[in-house]
Amino acid sequence: PQKREYWWEVAEHPGALDGYDRPMLVVNGQYPGPLIEANNGDTVVVHVTNSLDEPVTIHWHGLFQNGTIWEDGPSGVTQCPIGPGITYTYDFPITGKEQYGTFWWHAHRRALYIDGITGPFVIHSENDPLKRGRDFDIDQLVLLHDHYHRRSDEIVDGLLSAGGFNGSFVAPSPQSNVMNGAGLYDCSFAAANATCRQKTQRDLPELRFPPNQRVRLRFINEGAHPLQFVSVDEHELTLVEADFTPTMPLPVHRIPIAIAQRYSAILDTSRDKTGDAFYLRAQINTGCLGLPFPDLDPQARLVVRIGEDCDDLGNALPTSADWNDPSAGNCTDLDAANLHPRIPRDAPSSANQVLVFNSSFALPQNIFKWTLNDQTFENFAYDPLLQRVARGESIPTGRVAVVTAGHLEVVDLVIQNIQGADHPFHLHGPQMYVLSRGSGLITPEQASRLHHNLTNPIRRDVITVSPGTWQVVRLIADIPGVHAFHCHILWHQIQGLLGALVIEPDVIRTFRIPQDNLALCNGGNASVIDPGRKR
Ligand code: C2O
Repeated sequence: PQKREYWWEVAEHPGALDGYDRPMLVVNGQYPGPLIEANNGDTVVVHVTNSLDEPVTIHWHGLFQNGTIWEDGPSGVTQCPIGPGITYTYDFPITGKEQYGTFWWHAHRRALYIDGITGPFVIHSENDPLKRGRDFDIDQLVLLHDHYHRRSDEIVDGLLSAGGFNGSFVAPSPQSNVMNGAGLYDCSFAAANATCRQKTQRDLPELRFPPNQRVRLRFINEGAHPLQFVSVDEHELTLVEADFTPTMPLPVHRIPIAIAQRYSAILDTSRDKTGDAFYLRAQINTGCLGLPFPDLDPQARLVVRIGEDCDDLGNALPTSADWNDPSAGNCTDLDAANLHPRIPRDAPSSANQVLVFNSSFALPQNIFKWTLNDQTFENFAYDPLLQRVARGESIPTGRVAVVTAGHLEVVDLVIQNIQGADHPFHLHGPQMYVLSRGSGLITPEQASRLHHNLTNPIRRDVITVSPGTWQVVRLIADIPGVHAFHCHILWHQIQGLLGALVIEPDVIRTFRIPQDNLALCNGGNASVIDPGRKR
């Protein structure tokens, strides 16, 4: 095992990912953010210096944090935010429970990650059934995000005020679709006082692979809002990983990717010849946004060129055709019934208890709030839930929906979307065995009488639940901690759609949270809801 040590500065930096100038918030001046790469068993140490004018935290999406829950990252849940000018060191081993595959990291306070504070996180293991040299030859990250020309704080402040953002309770449409840090915007839509340099497809970076290779495309939707469809023209993809679960190979034309989900798919270039070129496409499913999108081209394209070396590639744009089966209309995940983990593991045969998260919304004082179990998360950033539980105190009701499980209990979690919008729900901590779904309402008693297929169900960390439907997932409570459960659509999250699964509160009380973590709370007012950009 090794120590993987990183020194990061989070700061504002000029950017123009799609040609339109807007300040980005980024790590070490780069977007996409730096890759963290480690082996299972390694310890990851990240020294984060906050040079922003507001607090920030970083979350390691998908990591179990078994025994280090205070390093998980969500502001107001497991830690106090890192104030401006402060350096905090995240330090956690990837041990206790084995994990490997495709993860990512992102800011976890307000909607700051969509300003650029995000990047990939890849963990390797000898036990990973996906082997380079056998299952694939080349490893290629493909990062997707819906890009906004406004800084997220402006959108968030609007959404959190009476009447919403510019008179709407729904966040504004993105301006462009960005892949691997580059996108296109039609500058004729830009305001007269904006700086916008018109870019064309030829200005975008290209992917270049030799023929006769199997390329593992690691797709990560690190966006704020929409589901996307990814595809490669005239090439079937073979899906081999969902979130961080290796899956039995599944041939597909297109993959729907909700916010925060990851998929690996193999692109085989054995029938391509040197000089061939085709598009890799990412299509924002605008039908799921529920908004007009006047200036957005929902489809991003990256040119893929095949060549032995750089000289023989040519530079003509591809004439390849998109698959003619439609991608629109569906706002939900790839059917779980088609995803089979490559290392089979049956779900536990019965559950000790059924817990419920019901999502809906309310409109007190003309301020839009999403609710879980009729409560909306109030982010008392300087009084994080974990520290309250560690002190043996209870979490006041009305502040956040909390469900609790004991040591190694098997929990059925009923996630019920009573009304509103599609929600890609993410559970921190344990993986979810995706068991059953249905429409209408279901009671815990009915849920406990369901007959599930327990044979090797897919295990994921993000599942989309559509309005008027429910899903049942099963999990084993084997990671003590306060695990955030939230919609990963940033605008829904900041409008309160966040709860928590507390596992083993009695063990949490024995945790010794490191002093430097607790010290982040000094200087903050524990009785004040996260004050936003002002401090
Ligand atoms: Cu990827 Cu709580 O987040």
